[in-house]
Parts: sequence; structure tokens; C-alpha cells
Amino acid sequence: MRRILAALLLLLGGGVAAAPVVVGDAIPASLTGSPGDAARGRAIVLDRQRGLCLLCHSGPFPKERFQGDLAPNLAGAGARLSEGQLRLRMVDGRQLNPDTIMPSYFSLDGLVRVGRAWQGRTVLTAEEIEDVVAFLAGLRD
Ligand code: HEC
Repeated sequence: MRRILAALLLLLGGGVAAAPVVVGDAIPASLTGSPGDAARGRAIVLDRQRGLCLLCHSGPFPKERFQGDLAPNLAGAGARLSEGQLRLRMVDGRQLNPDTIMPSYFSLDGLVRVGRAWQGRTVLTAEEIEDVVAFLAGLRD
């Protein structure tokens, strides 16, 4: 009986994305259970359509023109913040600063007037969040 119950729970759990667990000012565990790919993360950060990070941030990207100055420079982000701290800032920075202008890249809370194609979808997927976190964690100076 217990084994059947465990299998059932596993099955149910498999289809449902659990809300990431916040500890202090961080989400310590990977959203996917595995580490991200920093090269893919870099591409997302520099992409003006997907990440849009450089609208607000500048960073150690000498070849990129028109970088933002509305937010902290991303240089050294991986030295200032742990992976878990970076992850919470990517998932939903409103949990630290309710008035932040930074988009919540992995949250569906509090969204209004969402276009049909975007309903029920986060801006980035769990995999993409992990890729960006892996890239940011490597920005050491
Ligand atoms: C619309 C503006 C905006 C966009 C777009 C944006 N951010 Fe931010 N971000 C901010 C602001 C402002 C802060 C400062 C925290 C706050 O608002 O309280 C911040 C904070 C951060 C921090 C913490 C930095 C530190 O030193 O404390 C990281 C890391 C970060 N953003 C990464 C990103 C990445 C990666 C992207 C793209 C996927 C991105 N941001 C997109 C505005 C933005």
C-alpha cells in the first residue's frame, strides 16, 4: 500500500511545477535539479528580445552598444551574490523589493492583462533561469 501511494505521489508530482523554496534572500536549489549552461545563459542576457537585461543593466560586455544605467552593473555579480541569491533575483525580485522595475522572469503572480499567447507562461523557462544563473555566477570581477 505504501509503495503504491509513493508511486502515485511521484506521478502527481511529476506534472506539477512546485513553487521554488525561498530561504532568506535566496532560492538555494536549482529549479531543474541540475546546473545550467553558462554559454546559453550569456546568450540570453545579451539577447535584446529574450532577456532584455541590457535595457537596464550594463556589464562586462565591451562589444555591446547601448547598455542600461537603471540598475547595478552586472560585473562582479557572481562575487557579490551566491547562486541562490542570484536565482531569487531572477525568479521574482519583488520578494526583496516590491517596487522593483526588474521583471520577474519566473513568476506568474500579480500579472494583469496578459496577451493570450503568454498566459500561463513565465518569461523564461526553468532551464533558461538556470542558464542565466550559471552565467551570472561566473561574473567574478
Ligand atoms: C527594467 C529594468 C531591468 C531589467 C530588464 C533587468 N533588470 Fe536586473 N535589476 C534591475 C534593478 C533596478 C535592480 C536592482 C534591484 C532592485 O530593483 O531592487 C536589478 C538587480 C539585478 C541583480 C542583482 C544585482 C546586484 O548587484 O544586486 C541581478 C543579478 C540582475 N538584476 C540580473 C538581471 C538579468 C540577468 C536580467 C535579464 C535576464 C535583468 N536583470 C533584467 C532592473 C532590471
